Amino acid sequence: MWGGRFSRGPAAIMEEINASIDVDRRLWREDIEGSKAHAAMLAAAGVIGAEDARAIHDGLETIAGEIERGAFTFSKTLEDIHMNIEARLKTLIGEPAGRLHTARSRNDQVATDFRLWARRACDDIEAALRDLMTALAEKALAHAGDVMPGFTHLQTAQPITFGHHLMAYVEMFARDAGRIADARARMNECPLGAAALAGTSFPIDREMTAAALGFDRPCANSLDAVSARDFALELLAAASIAATHLSRLAEEIVLWTSPHFGFVKLSDAFSTGSSIMPQKRNPDAAELVRAKTGRITASLNNLLVVMKGLPLAYSKDMQEDKAATFEGVDALALAIAAMAGMARDLTPQPDAMAEAAGRGFSTATDIADWLVRVLNTPFRDAHHVTGAIVALADRKGVTLDALSLEEMRTVEPRLTEDIFTVLSPAASAASRTSHGGAAPDNVRAQATRWLDALTQQP
Ligand code: ARG
Repeated sequence: MWGGRFSRGPAAIMEEINASIDVDRRLWREDIEGSKAHAAMLAAAGVIGAEDARAIHDGLETIAGEIERGAFTFSKTLEDIHMNIEARLKTLIGEPAGRLHTARSRNDQVATDFRLWARRACDDIEAALRDLMTALAEKALAHAGDVMPGFTHLQTAQPITFGHHLMAYVEMFARDAGRIADARARMNECPLGAAALAGTSFPIDREMTAAALGFDRPCANSLDAVSARDFALELLAAASIAATHLSRLAEEIVLWTSPHFGFVKLSDAFSTGSSIMPQKRNPDAAELVRAKTGRITASLNNLLVVMKGLPLAYSKDMQEDKAATFEGVDALALAIAAMAGMARDLTPQPDAMAEAAGRGFSTATDIADWLVRVLNTPFRDAHHVTGAIVALADRKGVTLDALSLEEMRTVEPRLTEDIFTVLSPAASAASRTSHGGAAPDNVRAQATRWLDALTQQP
């Protein structure tokens, strides 16, 4: 491609470090799409003849067919996907192939291909997140009334419901999908026609190629167009946050499926056994989702470090952008799909959850609230009184609802039988009717609202 200036080929190790075809062959669809749009525009602008444009178009379609069939030979000597396709085009159609690269450089070509790929990745991730949200909301709806302990510091805090817990993740994954959508909207500008860095003297129509490729507009500055990779960084940043959310849910599944909790069972489809301990059922998928976060946030860090300090415009460092981005996006797609699979597979164990919800004096706040509501005690004082009742139960080794009224009255003589209506975990959860609270009816409404929204939007 640059033989005019060179008299010798590259050293073997130079070819090894320089070639990116093993990674960027994944961009073949985008590369052909971009070249077709460019050739059609060149013809419309009168830069190349209509016949040449037709030959280029047909040749590119033939190549697409060959790659799809697995009949295309990718060559390392030809460095990357752009030169592999162009060289094949030359073999297929001869001289007109040499006109395709008019008013274009690999710099704007790869930036365009990569944005097209990243845009598609955004769409795929968003769809996958919506599927995960659907799985979680359906499970939440079915278990909106299953009482479980809510934790802070992993210490029993207050009774909630299993559905409420799952719906918290639906909110998180919805924001993740929103971040992906934001990234997509910002990246949707077309670099094609920026050429090497300075634009071109040919009368090209950048609006035309931008529109043909589904971009909102051409990038406004040719230097920025070929230098920018923040679109990939933003995608990986959103992916990293989503992965962090996935890892938290994965960790909870690991805890919940442990016999020490026993809140949830995963079927054989999502469990593995041990080769030495016959009793074991390990939540490997959850553990791997938890671990994939390392790979995904590493890919963000990888690309941040590659881009840091690069002068404008293109530097070959930027060729490393694809490996990082593909790795992060692939890992995220796998993690979301595995999580959706587990969300559909898991069976909550209401008895174990209810039993645990009664442990740890989880309804202590309800006693304090009762004192405020019924006796008009200031909350700070009610907290103190309740603390003494909890200490009493703790000394006796019983749960709060196992104390007698007489025993509780040794702490606060004005307590009445009515206190027993708030002492059960189920009553406690049901009383949390404030906006966004854990009451089963609230959870049902939340889940239904999300399921409606998820079926309506595209
Ligand atoms: N394979 C290269 C990449 O992925 C394409 C751009 C090469 N441009 C250049 N000036 N060498 O970044």
